[in-house]
Amino acid sequence: MKINLGLIFGGRSGEHEVSLQSAKSIAAAVNKEKYDLLLIAIDKSGNWYYVDPSSYLENADDPKNIKLKVSPDQQIAIVPSNNSNEIRRLSDSKVLGKLDVAFSIIHGTFGEDGSIQGYFDIMNIPCIGASVLGSAVGMDKIVAKNLLVQENIKVADWLVADKYSNIEKITQEAASEFNFPIFVKPACSGSSVGVYKAENISSLKESIVKALKFDSRVLLEKAIKGREIECAILGNDELIASIPGEIIPKHSFYSYEAKYIDANGAKLEMPAKISTDIAERVKEMAKKTYKALSCSGMARVDMFLTENGDLYLNEINTLPGFTKISMYPKLMDLSGISYSELIDRLVQLAIEKHKEREENLANVLKVSAY
Ligand SMILES: Nc1ncnc2c1ncn2[C@@H]1O[C@H](COP(=O)(O)OP(=O)(O)O)[C@@H](O)[C@H]1O
Ligand SMILES: [Mg+2]
Repeated sequence: MKINLGLIFGGRSGEHEVSLQSAKSIAAAVNKEKYDLLLIAIDKSGNWYYVDPSSYLENADDPKNIKLKVSPDQQIAIVPSNNSNEIRRLSDSKVLGKLDVAFSIIHGTFGEDGSIQGYFDIMNIPCIGASVLGSAVGMDKIVAKNLLVQENIKVADWLVADKYSNIEKITQEAASEFNFPIFVKPACSGSSVGVYKAENISSLKESIVKALKFDSRVLLEKAIKGREIECAILGNDELIASIPGEIIPKHSFYSYEAKYIDANGAKLEMPAKISTDIAERVKEMAKKTYKALSCSGMARVDMFLTENGDLYLNEINTLPGFTKISMYPKLMDLSGISYSELIDRLVQLAIEKHKEREENLANVLKVSAY
């Protein structure tokens, strides 16, 4: 029997357009013999639509102008039904189908932070990727760093500021502890939105104020001079670590402009030109990080490699860019797992994880059924 695979994309997120591109790529690659693909788009206002595969994107081939093409009569809600779920059209309540597995490819807010994972948990639908917990801790750079330090995984030193902080005091403290430049980042940033590289006290103060517009907590982080190395991880318990890749930004760091505006903003080198010894250390650190942050399914783990060979963990991305040419699928492909096989494996991992949870729940219900 074919699996009803729901692809959920778009979303009320700063990375809405990136998600449309990932969705387009996945929809084209899904094995139609194995899956009935159900496309579910979420617009920037948070409305959900069940869309037709042939006509849901405007400017599909133009990354700068790609847009959702949806109409109100396509609006739906997914609702729980007898331990399963139904896709219901809002206009007439008609049941259009149900999901066996959800592949949410929404990046950033509500997609990568555990929100949508929680929604699918409540609907009892296996969901690809990290759980609520893994997504939430992976998204929050402060929580993640605290957990990594406990596991003796090296990270750049940092301080935390919020709206109650004495900006004068914390900038002085950061300047004397870290020297300049200092990175300022919202706790839950993505795509480098709100990330600043401050070169002096006044720009540091300014950056904190600006970053606090994106999140209620920000990190002031010691700059690590090094290469940016990334490793793709796949699995729940037994993990596959990919051959590492490298991002070579052409700007002063891997900023929003370098990622999305400037077509030549960065070079993606795959595989990274590093020794086999360093590559092994990268893979080990990536796996250890993945476990420390309770991840499952997949994640891309980003690090800095300094001149003297030290590795610092920068961040984990539980919903990495997923177009055919994005770093995560490319690294997996280099490591022997093709794009459509990767989708298959992610579906299986989601089903396995869900089954385990259902078994646990059944045991809990048995005990509590007095
Ligand atoms: N401590 C740091 N030292 C050096 N470069 C940094 C540091 N923190 C961030 N950067 C630069 O900023 C980019 C974006 O920061 P990152 O923490 O990855 O946030 P995001 O989640 O928005 O991608 C990184 O890819 C890197 O180029
Ligand atoms: Mg990053």
